[in-house]
Amino acid sequence: MSRSKASRYRRIRDQLAAELLETDDPIARMATIVALLHHKQPRFFWTGFYRLIECGDLVVGPYQGTLACQVLPAGQGVCGTAVTRGETLIVPDVHVFPGHIACDGRANSEIVVPVRDPSGAIVGVLDVDSTEPGCFDDVDAEWLETIVAGVYGAQDA
Ligand code: SME
Repeated sequence: MSRSKASRYRRIRDQLAAELLETDDPIARMATIVALLHHKQPRFFWTGFYRLIECGDLVVGPYQGTLACQVLPAGQGVCGTAVTRGETLIVPDVHVFPGHIACDGRANSEIVVPVRDPSGAIVGVLDVDSTEPGCFDDVDAEWLETIVAGVYGAQDA
């Protein structure tokens, strides 16, 4: 399972390496990343970015999937918690995560990866939801962190 999971991510990473060279605009890159991830990963039910704004809230960015919550209050939900902790969060069962924000009740598990600008500051998150319980593991975390690094950097990892 993990090996086929890794090879699927490797193909996505390779395709992104070419696509992301076309512009260094971070929003365009976010849109390209979510389009590829969402359509090449059937287990991804909702795939998108939230961007950190001055007051600490997260506002929705490029995404694919069902209608999203547009603003997540500072420090709340899985996304806000990932920002506060400054690390990737894997949530096998969103229904037992304190403060989980349900934008679509069909989501059962979630992974949130912080996005950092070239100075290392967190400027947003990549959020992926699945209807499958326990859908995400350390293999997803490692690959999604590599892919998210492409928002501001080269995709040659
Ligand atoms: N579940 C997230 C909110 C965003 S939606 O999943 C698209 C959270 O708890 O932060």
